[in-house]
Amino acid sequence: MRLALYQPDIPQNTGALLRLAACLEVEVDLIEPLGFLVDDRRLRRASLDYVAWERVRRHASWDAFLAGRDSGSRLILLTTSGTVAFHRFDFAAGDTLLLGRESAGVPDFVHRTAVARVVIPLAPGARSLNVALAGAIAVAEALRQTGGFPQP
Ligand SMILES: C[S@@+](CC[C@H](N)C(=O)[O-])C[C@H]1O[C@@H](n2cnc3c(N)ncnc32)[C@H](O)[C@@H]1O
Repeated sequence: MRLALYQPDIPQNTGALLRLAACLEVEVDLIEPLGFLVDDRRLRRASLDYVAWERVRRHASWDAFLAGRDSGSRLILLTTSGTVAFHRFDFAAGDTLLLGRESAGVPDFVHRTAVARVVIPLAPGARSLNVALAGAIAVAEALRQTGGFPQP
């Protein structure tokens, strides 16, 4: 299972997701440009000393990310305009769960690349979740379905 972050712009959210990924043994793709430096102290504070940098791949652009992808890994976009609810979607162990930018989600060409667009249903009037919380909810469901949680 992989988490991919599309051009994140808030270091605390990326730090929280890197910590989540390290704790759950999930690989991470950081798709640049980022809105901060990777040694930003706000990222370090949110991730503590949990980041497993050997599990984090940085990609200079969206095209570089696509070029380096394992063709067997499905790209599943987490989006507020998704067409299937996350708890009704059948995740696979090799999936890459793609999260959008805090400010703008992802552009249309990224929507078109994903094989599925998955939503976490929200209360009427609620616009979106914090990206780190959306990532945590989705990866937990994906690991639950695929038996992928770490075995202590
Ligand atoms: C703050 S939201 C982006 C809001 C942005 N204005 C938009 O329209 O996409 C940041 C990211 O968190 C994820 N996200 C937030 N709420 C979500 C939800 N209810 N279902 C699926 N993904 C969600 C998506 O990946 C989204 O791109």
